[in-house]
Amino acid sequence: MGLTHIRTPKNFDLDERLERYADAIETNAPGLVGRWAQACWPIDPQRSDGRDRFREVRLDLGCGKGAFIAQCAQLYPDILFIGMDVEPICIAYAAQRACDEGLRNMVIVPRGANALPEIFCEGELSAITLNFPTPYPKRHHARRRLVNVDHLLGFRRLLAPGATITLRTDSQPLWEYAKGQFKAAGYTIRWASSDTRADHPETPVTEYERRLTERGATVFGICAEPGSEPDAAGIQRGRDAEQSLMCYLPADLFSLDYVPLGMEAAVENFRNRERKGKARIPGNTRS
Ligand SMILES: C[S@@+](CC[C@H](N)C(=O)[O-])C[C@H]1O[C@@H](n2cnc3c(N)ncnc32)[C@H](O)[C@@H]1O
Repeated sequence: MGLTHIRTPKNFDLDERLERYADAIETNAPGLVGRWAQACWPIDPQRSDGRDRFREVRLDLGCGKGAFIAQCAQLYPDILFIGMDVEPICIAYAAQRACDEGLRNMVIVPRGANALPEIFCEGELSAITLNFPTPYPKRHHARRRLVNVDHLLGFRRLLAPGATITLRTDSQPLWEYAKGQFKAAGYTIRWASSDTRADHPETPVTEYERRLTERGATVFGICAEPGSEPDAAGIQRGRDAEQSLMCYLPADLFSLDYVPLGMEAAVENFRNRERKGKARIPGNTRS
């Protein structure tokens, strides 16, 4: 079974789970636009700190089963962590985690990236994390990558001053591609790391990080913040770079110790071609 395929476990009644953990799922997210920090603040007469809202709102886009934000929520009780995902099983698991752990600062929103403009207002988010976003390696799926220049341009207006976007991925090709896309969208890179676990050991481990590092992956990362508005030519250069992620692999595919998630079949295919002595396909035409 591939790691990207989510199979419903035996005896798993999805509707029943979604209903049981509904307290942690926000189905009317557009109704909270601009008010997340206040609206989600728990009404608790025992609290004596005088606050009536969360200090910040942070988004984990593509949160999966919620392990990462649950750890963040434990660490920072006065920050609201919102996890968004499009996969109903992930929503159910993430919401279960929030309920079981009693995390009143963790909310799951069952929506995808395209819904962001109707869910958050300008400057509402103090951070966005993109942990192991689906890489969409094929050229004709490039626009679906969450680090694509157009997604990054959309995220800019949601970020508060000083807010950051952090990417973590097992895919060096996606990381190389993302560096160019962040630049094209006018971001300033605070740090780029080819081993985030070594460079930022305090960061909670995500489900995919745990599973993929067990297979030999290293985690690549970028943390960036919006800089000055990008010009049209720069944005266009980012769009023009929308090629297959295969282009970012080394010329010698046999030198790879680890093949990133989602590229296994394509790499095997190209290795087989070379084994059979077929002509190398130039990098920029790999689809
Ligand atoms: C590889 S998993 C990573 C999960 C988790 N972040 C982790 O690191 O363990 C990618 C997740 O992104 C979700 N996803 C893919 N496209 C998305 C989109 N456009 N908006 C929100 N979530 C998306 C998938 O459903 C999946 O749960």
